[in-house]
Amino acid sequence: MTGYLSDERKKITTRTFFEMKQRGERISMLTSYDYTMAGIVDSAGVDCILVGDSAANVMAGHATTLPQTVDEMIYHARAVKRAVRHALVICDMPFGSYQVSWEDGLRNAIRIMKETGVDAVKIEGGEAVVPVIEGIIRAGIPVMGHLGLTPQSIHRFGGYGVRAKDEEEARRLLADAQALDAAGCFGITLEKVPATLAATVTQRVSCATIGIGAGSETDGQVLVVTDMLGMTQGFRPKFLRTYADLHTVVTDAVARYVADVKQSAFPTADESY
Ligand code: KIV
Repeated sequence: MTGYLSDERKKITTRTFFEMKQRGERISMLTSYDYTMAGIVDSAGVDCILVGDSAANVMAGHATTLPQTVDEMIYHARAVKRAVRHALVICDMPFGSYQVSWEDGLRNAIRIMKETGVDAVKIEGGEAVVPVIEGIIRAGIPVMGHLGLTPQSIHRFGGYGVRAKDEEEARRLLADAQALDAAGCFGITLEKVPATLAATVTQRVSCATIGIGAGSETDGQVLVVTDMLGMTQGFRPKFLRTYADLHTVVTDAVARYVADVKQSAFPTADESY
């Protein structure tokens, strides 16, 4: 077999991100939280898998990402890593794991790398988190930044609306992106910001930008896998394109299974020992 489904595909590294940006090749990224989904996503050809702290929402049912713990991230990241052969795997550092001090953040990043085998970590925030990012990079761990709508700050924002619409916040975001780039981040996620601002940031930084609700001019795109597969109910932001309706597919399959069991139509003799 050739192409994306073959073992000929090279393992994606953080270096590949820079090379892809340089040659103008878009980077595809999706979240995953478990072995089975990560295996499908990886073999379907995605460049990068994010073990997002959105696990708090879509795996655990929390209203925000704040309750997610380092232990929970490690559980999800280990399962994902076991399945992935090609994609770069990034693990989110959850709320509280890097804000207390840069030493504490470094300790948690090292723990995540040691116990999961992921390739990199992601941290939300701008200039304020540069000291912890520098400490982590000094230890040899690649870091992706995350600006714009940073869900760990949802209580400060007071909602999930588009960020940096006004000039002052846009100016701040650009400065933050340049600070993350200078600190050595290999990539920056830009979440829910105007497309023109995301395009400007993309031109002004040497690292790759990955957009979610940030228009088409970023170096790559990321979506939450359960959202793009149409599994999540009642979440339809403008930026989300759904590529399947798994909610309907799974509901229908479960309903048919239940009916078969009730009618003793499953299992048949052929399905018995
Ligand atoms: O946690 C997550 O899934 C994320 C993406 C939305 C970028 O950070």
